[in-house]
Amino acid sequence: MAKKPLRIGLVGYGFMGRTHSNGYKRVPDFFPELQYQPVLKAVCGRSEDKTKAFAEQWGYESYETDWNKLIARDDIDAIDICTPNDTHGPISIAAAKAGKMVLCEKPIGMSTAEGEEMVKAVEDAGVANTIFYNYRRIPAVTLAKKIIDSGKLGRIFHYRANFLQDWTINADVPQGGAGLWRLDAASAGSGVTGDLLAHCIDTAIWLNGRINDVNAVTETFVKERLHSGTGKKEPVKIDDACSFFCHFENGSLGLFESTRYARGHKALYTFEINGEHASIRWDLHDLHRLEYFDHADEGEVRGWRSIHVTDGEHPYMDHWWVPGLNIGYEHSFVHHVADFLKSIEEGTPCEPTFKSALETQKVCDAVLASAAEKVWKDV
Ligand SMILES: NC(=O)c1ccc[n+]([C@@H]2O[C@H](COP(=O)([O-])OP(=O)(O)OC[C@H]3O[C@@H](n4cnc5c(N)ncnc54)[C@H](O)[C@@H]3O)[C@@H](O)[C@H]2O)c1
Repeated sequence: MAKKPLRIGLVGYGFMGRTHSNGYKRVPDFFPELQYQPVLKAVCGRSEDKTKAFAEQWGYESYETDWNKLIARDDIDAIDICTPNDTHGPISIAAAKAGKMVLCEKPIGMSTAEGEEMVKAVEDAGVANTIFYNYRRIPAVTLAKKIIDSGKLGRIFHYRANFLQDWTINADVPQGGAGLWRLDAASAGSGVTGDLLAHCIDTAIWLNGRINDVNAVTETFVKERLHSGTGKKEPVKIDDACSFFCHFENGSLGLFESTRYARGHKALYTFEINGEHASIRWDLHDLHRLEYFDHADEGEVRGWRSIHVTDGEHPYMDHWWVPGLNIGYEHSFVHHVADFLKSIEEGTPCEPTFKSALETQKVCDAVLASAAEKVWKDV
C-alpha cells in the first residue's frame, strides 16, 4: 500500500520534542496498517547550533529558528508544539490560520480565555487538532476506561489522584530559562496545577465524567528564587503544591493532590476509583499493571488482583511484543501519534481535541481561583 506522507514541523527539541519525535519514528514499523506515514520535515528551535544538531540526530530534513517561518512553509502539513505553555496559544493560532493541522503539548494554554481562542482558531480553520494528554494511551489506563465504561464498577463513589515530585525543594533552584521555565509563572501560567494536576484532571474527566465544582488549597513554599532572565531574586508566582476536593457530575467525590515537595517521589502519578461493585487503581511507577478488586469474587479468594496489561487482547498490546512483555512511558506517545494518523485517515477527531482539553483548563482555572479566594468555585 502506498503511504500518504504527513509532513511534520516540530517546535521545541526538549523533553517532549524527543518523545514526539520517537513517536513519529516508531509508528510506521509498529502500526503498519496506517495509511499516513509521518515525515520529519523540519524542527524549529531558537538556538541554531542546537536545533541543527537535533535535526541531524533525529533525522529531520531541515531546521528553522523562527516558528513563523516554519508555519509559512508549503511543505509542512502539521505543526507539533513542544514548547513552554506561554507559546502554545500564539503558535497554534498562527498554525491553524495557515491551514496546518495542530498537535500541541498540554496544558492547552495559559488560561481558559486563551484556550477558547485556540479552540476557535482550529475550529474556524477546520484543521485536525489534538492535545497530548498522553496518559490516556498507556494500555493499563485505556483498559481502566474500558472496564469503567462496561459498568463493572457500578455507581462510582470516589475518584482519588496524586501526582508527587520532589525536585524543587532546594531553594537554590532558579526560575526561568532552559528546563526551569516551569517555575516562572510568565512561561508556565501556573505551577503543579497546570503542569501535573492537569494530567490527573484530564484522566479523571475521561474516566469519570465532568467536574462540577472545586475547593482548593495551594502553597508556594519557596517565596523567592533567582530568575535566570533578570539575574535577580524575584517572587515565585507559581503554586508549589495544590490539593483540591470536587464533585463530579455523576455524584462521586474527587480528591486530588500534587506537589513538588514530596521528598522521595520523582513522578508518582496514581489514581484510584471506588465503585459500588469494584475498584480500580493505577500507579505510573508500575504502569503496565492495573489493580482491580471485584466484590463479586468468591469470599475466600476475594482480594485485589494485579492485571499485567501485556496480553494481545489488551489495548494497543497486539502491536508490540508477545504476552507478558512490558512496554513503557514512551509508548503512550507512539500510541497518540498512531491514533492521530488513524483519525485523519477516518476524518474523526483525535481525543483529546483542543475543545476537550479546554475542559481541563477550566477545572485548573477554577482550582486556582478557589485557592486564591478560599471558596468553592463552579467550573
Ligand atoms: N505530556 C506530558 O507528559 C508532558 C511532559 C513534559 C512536558 N509537557 C509539556 O510539553 C511542553 C514542553 O515541555 P518540555 O518538558 O519538553 O520542556 P523543555 O524545557 O524540555 O523543552 C522546551 C523546548 O522549547 C524550546 N523553546 C522555548 N521557547 C521557544 C520558542 N519561542 N521557539 C522555539 N522553541 C522554543 C526550548 O528551547 C526547548 O527546546 C510544555 O508545555 C509542557 O507542559 C508534557
